[in-house]
Amino acid sequence: MINISGIIFLLVTIPFGIVMADLRVGFYNSTCPNAESIVRQVVQNRFRTDPSITAALLRMHFHDCFVRGCDASILIDSTKSKSSEKDASPNLTVRGYELIDEAKKNLEAACPSTVSCADIITIATRDSVALAGGPNYIIPTGRRDGLVSSVSEVSLPSPSFSVSQALQSFSAKGLTLNDMVTLLGAHTVGIAHCNFFQARLFNFQGTSKPDPTMDPTLVAILSKVCGSGSNPAAFLDQNTSFVFDNQFYNQILLNRGVLLLDEQLALDKLSAPMVLNFARNGAAFQQSFANAMVKMGSIQVLVGTAGEIRQNCRVFNQ
Ligand code: HEM
Ligand SMILES: *[C@@H]1O[C@H](CO)[C@@H](O)[C@H](O)[C@H]1NC(C)=O
Ligand SMILES: *[C@@H]1O[C@H](CO)[C@@H](O)[C@H](O)[C@H]1NC(C)=O
Ligand SMILES: *[C@@H]1O[C@H](CO)[C@@H](O)[C@H](O)[C@H]1NC(C)=O
Repeated sequence: MINISGIIFLLVTIPFGIVMADLRVGFYNSTCPNAESIVRQVVQNRFRTDPSITAALLRMHFHDCFVRGCDASILIDSTKSKSSEKDASPNLTVRGYELIDEAKKNLEAACPSTVSCADIITIATRDSVALAGGPNYIIPTGRRDGLVSSVSEVSLPSPSFSVSQALQSFSAKGLTLNDMVTLLGAHTVGIAHCNFFQARLFNFQGTSKPDPTMDPTLVAILSKVCGSGSNPAAFLDQNTSFVFDNQFYNQILLNRGVLLLDEQLALDKLSAPMVLNFARNGAAFQQSFANAMVKMGSIQVLVGTAGEIRQNCRVFNQ
């Protein structure tokens, strides 16, 4: 196995249509020179005792960027009068908010009102991916925090979507099929609760039978896991559940995808060739993931004087 963690991937292409103009590598060089290392320290400390933080941050970053762009709108707490994006997230089970708070507290102590919460999510996610064995990529910064967070705007792709349905939602964000197949490789870490895949086990599309595309051994394992009433969770990558590697693609080729869409990636002829390539070539996946994360991290970002730099990631400044 080639160990490519530690290699820095450089961004080679800047895709047309994605706002990157004012994001810059090392945006905080002069205003907060230790910004990235302050975040890295917090992530390292957490990862040591809780490696599942990688999955938590990846999902948080994805949800942030797909609703109103990467503007930390996901971090805003609801108030009595206003339901924020978070009101949708108990159902969507996003976690890791307290890590962002800790990084923000340390950053405010070092350089007040300088580093955005949107950049903290982006940097923390990057660092956590590297710690789990993924690529260590350079990510431009300079995002600003949004001024709006509304539960009614949360509309994310469903795990029961087909590949083409999911692609529509990625295309709407300026991402390609290759980006999507790559980014779903993030399901190489983390968990899914039974409610997201239960129908595949017991009553697939009204057949009263399991999904025929799921390995019967996995059906048996997951049926046992999901047998209790409390909506437990299972690993998305049943082989190397905490390692950021390409085993997710090998698993779906073995019909061991947990979510319907994950398995469809291997079966749909649109995406199957990419899945095969990533399954065989771990380095190609890691390189592609680094590039796709830079693209995802640039969706509809606020830059320049737009938005604000929040002092507390959970509340808008006055
Ligand atoms: C069509 C797109 C996607 C769909 C339908 C989807 C769906 C899901 C679902 C249903 C879960 C289980 C959540 C739970 O039970 O707590 C999940 C977990 C996860 N997703 Fe995705 N996802 C998509 C794209 C992405 C992307 C682009 C990323 C990151 C780049 C990502 C990263 C993760 C991670 C790391 C987890 C595990 C979270 C944890 O362990 O707490 N997903 N996803
Ligand atoms: C910050 O410093 C790095 C490393 O020296 C450099 O590559 C980057 O261009 C600098 N960025 C800015 C915005 O000054
Ligand atoms: C989300 O969870 C809340 C509180 O548990 C519940 O009332 C609501 O119906 C759920 N929404 C969805 C879409 O599942
Ligand atoms: C699980 O992952 C290991 C380590 O990458 C790999 O060598 C092995 O072939 C995988 N097992 C299966 C069943 O895919």
